[in-house]
Amino acid sequence: MSEKNIESLLKEKRVFPPSAAFSSQAHIKGLDAYEEISRKALEDPEGYWAGIASELHWFEPWKTVLEWELPFSKWFVGGKTNISFNCLDRHLGTPRKNKIAILWEGEPGEVRALSYQMLHHEVCKFANVLKSFGLQKGDRATIYMGMVPELPVAMLACARMGVMHNVVFGGFSAEALRDRVNDSQSRMLITADGGYRRGTTIALKKSVDDALAGAPSVEKVIVYKRTGDPINMVAGRDVWWHEAMAVASADFPAEALDSEHPLFMLYTSGTTGKPKGVVHTTGGYMTGTYLTTKWVFDLKEEDTYWCTADIGWVTGHSYIVYGPLLNGATSVMYEGAPNFPEPDRFWSIIEKYRINIFYTAPTAIRTFVKWGDQWPAKHDLSSLRLLGTVGEPINPEAWMWYRKNIGGDRCPIVDTWWQTETGSILISPVPGAVPTKPGSATRPLPGIVADVVDRQGNPVGPNQGGFLVLRRPWPSMLRTIYGDPERYHRQYWSEIPGMYFTGDGARRDEDGYFWIMGRIDDVINVSGHRIGTMEVESALVSHPTVAESAVVGRPDDLKGQGIVAFVTLSAGNQALPALKEELKIHVGKSIGSFAKPDEIRFTDSLPKTRSGKIMRRLLRDLASGAKTVGDTTTLEDFSVLAKLREEEE
Ligand code: WTA
Repeated sequence: MSEKNIESLLKEKRVFPPSAAFSSQAHIKGLDAYEEISRKALEDPEGYWAGIASELHWFEPWKTVLEWELPFSKWFVGGKTNISFNCLDRHLGTPRKNKIAILWEGEPGEVRALSYQMLHHEVCKFANVLKSFGLQKGDRATIYMGMVPELPVAMLACARMGVMHNVVFGGFSAEALRDRVNDSQSRMLITADGGYRRGTTIALKKSVDDALAGAPSVEKVIVYKRTGDPINMVAGRDVWWHEAMAVASADFPAEALDSEHPLFMLYTSGTTGKPKGVVHTTGGYMTGTYLTTKWVFDLKEEDTYWCTADIGWVTGHSYIVYGPLLNGATSVMYEGAPNFPEPDRFWSIIEKYRINIFYTAPTAIRTFVKWGDQWPAKHDLSSLRLLGTVGEPINPEAWMWYRKNIGGDRCPIVDTWWQTETGSILISPVPGAVPTKPGSATRPLPGIVADVVDRQGNPVGPNQGGFLVLRRPWPSMLRTIYGDPERYHRQYWSEIPGMYFTGDGARRDEDGYFWIMGRIDDVINVSGHRIGTMEVESALVSHPTVAESAVVGRPDDLKGQGIVAFVTLSAGNQALPALKEELKIHVGKSIGSFAKPDEIRFTDSLPKTRSGKIMRRLLRDLASGAKTVGDTTTLEDFSVLAKLREEEE
């Protein structure tokens, strides 16, 4: 949070109010209406949230809207509902039953369109498959698949019966998968033989076999056949998806679950080595994702909506699966890479399906800028009426490019700030009402009380940097860290007493707009993926040649941040260029290739303070400066620098 950072952002003065044409058709038609809703939500938060929750189906009404005992919240207490019922069955008695729920395109080009009725049929059958293998309400199932419709089918089947799903991104390595299976104590693993990515296939089942060698809780593995590549099926453990489905009944009434019944866990990076299993529950998560999909994307019955995230991350959970289906929308799902076979795949998908709402990540937008304007220019993108971004701060120039080249200077852009932990979008423009400024997520949604404070929790003045916090509980907030409520308390509710600490730095301008400045804890945001520096450090130290390592982020034009690892070798090992490559591959194997360091720098010792703390700020400065030049086999010596720095501090 340096002064320089704050000043450079201050230069942004452009403001884009919504057009009259957009506002007049929007759910929330202007600032006055928006301020009125926000005022009511502030005065009577419980009444406000209850009004929204009651738009959904409850088998039994709740008795209490909120029970709040910091840090634990319970929402819609006593109510019984089911999110799978609300995503599917609720639409079946309406003309939506034959509307496309999931419109899927495979990377090789196949198309599948599943109506609400068809999706319901598949989900009920798969719930019966899970049941036939002994899975019960309260159990956990890990899902490790590519982007195929069977992934949401599996999630909705789990939700239907009260089994917690634990989706692990298909880019994670066998080791990372094993840790997540073990921490969740999953009895079932749902996977595919492989997946398509950039013209080749990824061997998912091979990773599963490796992972399960050290994960004894798993009794059954269900394998969806996607690529047809030869795989190993373990007798007694592994079952083909299509064979199990062929004999399953399509009758599976949704369980009436307590509002606070756990819905899913999703692992995310924190400041210590072990990833955290963020736990979300049923009623509150459902209310948050339902409302934000409707308001932030101004979703209408006739819209075709596309979020390009992977369902392995929270954005895919909330804004490909649950939020859109709760709203009865048509949610587009694409399996593969944006540059296969050519760098215009996304634009050809938008043109082909006449997509109206498009939601992607700043890192993708920066990549499109690099690939060149000619790719979107080849396509008719006039169906688009709203654009969104998520995952990291967007630089104003990328925002302007997006607005012009994709949005035809006509579409509002919603820059949506939220986290795995928040479950749904919390800070974002409401597009028909709130004027946008390039690079700002603008204002908290109605009912959300966000602030920028100092370490003691005092609000800082306009345009001063501080910590982004939330002052009140909200329905879709995480309830705990799986198996570790104490860590949940410590991590989120004790850094700044009485408030939820997001881990992000921010400032608020004179109009009350939030400008998110990125993580201030030891988490690096690479292409919108949260990676704990500790995770990469532990991976490096697990290599036999490494004695110690310190990992920091540095600015990167495309990825937002890149990873630089400072490494000291144990005695007898030589700092050779080939070893750098080997270490990068080792990290890829331990976590996933998205976590590979961009640069490895060997040093004979890490700079430390007198009390023995690694001087991370010094390393960050070094990492963002010029790259090492000359003889890469020389060990760098930071000890002199460290001494100088310690005298300054
Ligand atoms: C960052 C992704 C700036 C932030 C939904 C947050 C953002 C972390 C934005 C959560 C945004 C997300 N502007 N930064 N619009 N959206 N972030 O858990 O640092 O993968 O804390 O959730 O991404 O990442 P996560």
